[in-house]
Amino acid sequence: MTEITEELLQLMTDVINVRRWRTEPVPEEVLDQLLQAFRVGPSTGQPWEMLRLESDSAKRAAISATLEPFMTPGTEGAQRWLAEAPVVMALCIELRRATARLGPAGRQIALQDVGSALQNLRIMANALGLRTGVVREFETEKMREALGLPWFVEPVAIVAAGYSDAYLEYPPRYSIPEFCRVHEPSERVAGGEGRAIEPPAPPARTSLAASQGEAPVPAIYQRHSVRRFTGEPLAPEMLEQLLDAAIRAPSAGNMQPWEFIVLEGEEVRKAAVATTYIGYFAGPDNQQSWMLGASAIVVFCVNRRRTIGRYGERLAHHSVQDVAAAIENLMITATGMGLGSCWVGGFKEDEMTRLLGVPEGVQVLSMVAIGYPAQDPIPKARLPLDLLTHRDRWGVAYYQPSQE
Ligand SMILES: Cc1cc2nc3c(=O)[nH]c(=O)nc-3n(C[C@H](O)[C@H](O)[C@H](O)COP(=O)(O)O)c2cc1C
Repeated sequence: MTEITEELLQLMTDVINVRRWRTEPVPEEVLDQLLQAFRVGPSTGQPWEMLRLESDSAKRAAISATLEPFMTPGTEGAQRWLAEAPVVMALCIELRRATARLGPAGRQIALQDVGSALQNLRIMANALGLRTGVVREFETEKMREALGLPWFVEPVAIVAAGYSDAYLEYPPRYSIPEFCRVHEPSERVAGGEGRAIEPPAPPARTSLAASQGEAPVPAIYQRHSVRRFTGEPLAPEMLEQLLDAAIRAPSAGNMQPWEFIVLEGEEVRKAAVATTYIGYFAGPDNQQSWMLGASAIVVFCVNRRRTIGRYGERLAHHSVQDVAAAIENLMITATGMGLGSCWVGGFKEDEMTRLLGVPEGVQVLSMVAIGYPAQDPIPKARLPLDLLTHRDRWGVAYYQPSQE
């Protein structure tokens, strides 16, 4: 790579959400450069509108419509850090412009357009020594109302920019071969050399019946991540029952590589939560503090030594699968007992390992927060089986796409 391409790649790498800012204002001419970069983004009809939120009251209005990163209903006002950002703008699409040529499909394209123009702005910001943060977690209607926007202006993101000393921790990125593959036309591709295949008779579909409460194991369908709890304590025998369900999981060679650390003390719970982060990367103002409302927090560890003892390093990864199965057993059982739970993998493993004194050869895998639910979680959508299942080889759907 040449110097310039390396520099460019670094500017792109540095495009990452920042939430802490120096108070130093952003000069108008610098802001102008950001908007220049935005302006030259590729588009079909420049469908964008940018609304600068300068007054505290305008910022507060936008904040009031933001949700926490999991978009849990009822968490409006969650992204308070926006109040401190020197520049806050609402990025919108102008629906009339967006759809004038392409009809309703124009909205989807406009969303892509504003996404790429925004990336231009963020790269330019990095080049000018600024940092950016983008909030997409809000319900469109609530944000529209909060900002007093007309029906044809759709808010898409709240963009923050400013100078920052925040330490950046980059999310791990996939390697190129992990996401870039050579396309090999499968037999399903119509035309070309491909041969027509008989559509397979679809096996009986159970998911619909299951969602209507006729599932063989209802708790599997009733389990949804719960992140708000009543605080009512768990009876000790309930926790024992949950852990007993966990150890019923299958494990490679029956090596049972699980270890559980139940976090009881207030201090250790707080310290454990301090190692957590929401989303993809860590930051001091980005912790999963909701966990402190749980009645029990169980840390699941993988005692790799047990599996390695039998299978050697090469098959040590089995142990992670084993412990994941144990976690699911526990969560399903919790649901069956009327409890709510949430799997938590967003924490700094090295810090947690030190905090809990976990020895060499044992990996802290995940935590599970458990308690009586104080929310009615909204089921998260699942990818359809016809996209996820293959018949005999990759790319030949096992199920035919649903006609519904
Ligand atoms: C390995 C793993 C790590 C996860 N980490 C977190 C986390 O750090 N914080 C959190 O709130 N949810 C976490 N989750 C829960 C997922 O967000 C949740 O399972 C997913 O959105 C599907 O929603 P559902 O559990 O309600 O079906 C994690 C789930 C898994 C399996």
